[in-house]
Amino acid sequence: MEEDKSLKLLQRAVPLLLEWYGVSKRTLPWRGTKDPYRILVSEIMLQQTRVETVKGYYLTFLEKFPTAEALAAADEADVLKAWEGLGYYSRARNLQKAAKTIAKAGFPRDFQGVRALSGVGDYTAGAILSIAYDLPCPAVDGNVLRILTRLLESEENIDDERSRKKFREALREVYPAQAGDFCQALMELGAIVCVPNGLPLCGECPWREICRAHQSGRELDFPVRSEKKKRRVVALNVCVLRKGNKFALKKREEKGLLAGLYEFPVFEGSPPDFGRVLKEKRAKHVFTHLEWHMTGQLIEANEYFPQYIWATKEEIERGYAIPNAFKAFTEWLRT
Ligand code: ADE
Repeated sequence: MEEDKSLKLLQRAVPLLLEWYGVSKRTLPWRGTKDPYRILVSEIMLQQTRVETVKGYYLTFLEKFPTAEALAAADEADVLKAWEGLGYYSRARNLQKAAKTIAKAGFPRDFQGVRALSGVGDYTAGAILSIAYDLPCPAVDGNVLRILTRLLESEENIDDERSRKKFREALREVYPAQAGDFCQALMELGAIVCVPNGLPLCGECPWREICRAHQSGRELDFPVRSEKKKRRVVALNVCVLRKGNKFALKKREEKGLLAGLYEFPVFEGSPPDFGRVLKEKRAKHVFTHLEWHMTGQLIEANEYFPQYIWATKEEIERGYAIPNAFKAFTEWLRT
């Protein structure tokens, strides 16, 4: 692509996008604040979780931990409990680590400082600096790459870090003074118009007159990506052991997937005979690199097997974070 022409097109795209954002943006609970701590919390929550899900957590989390100091001083177990259901729990641990840094030294104001906070990568650092301080720091993720490669009909492979860098540099050249609005407008267009799955809603797009992919009807040819690796599939038997009003739990290893969270006893092979099987159902949970194909059983346990923690439904709801992967089976706590 002739770089000059692309840059010109990108320059024309900026005011069209800002004008559209002004009238079309969704009202979201983290929009309208310039408090960098609150923006950090929202951006970390939004890293791997959909807007609709985050909406249900953001304000509750901030009521519990309204400042970096409050989060820094909290018990990790309380932080994980407040995060329960959001998934990717290392984000919660990193966020608390970041809060400790901020509580000591104040919220950093430059890219290096923000990027150095635990759990903050290039994208999140760019988003925070744009939104909190209106600095021209591009935040480029898959959504932004999708709308830009379509606008420019760019054949760059977006899985290649060098391509991502090119787009960051190109955006830096056209960043307007309303950096926070621009950053969120790029995200917004990718979220509600130039959508990731299915057909983009080109009729509603502020770029419909200038988008090269739209002019040639090739919207779905972009972005160009490397072939995806297949996820590993693990078959698991999940045993929900009940005795009286208590259920058996086990703490996961402190390292790796879902580290330190609580789960029902799980077995890659056949489980031992724990008692009478009352119910059975199957469920699937997809992680980034892994799929769990689970068969769950609700079991009337013969005894309080001592290798497990036994807790009532209320104790579990108050004090034990069970990951969403087990959601199909946590429903049985209520039966
Ligand atoms: N995804 C990541 N950051 C976001 C934000 N600030 N608003 C909406 N979606 C987002």
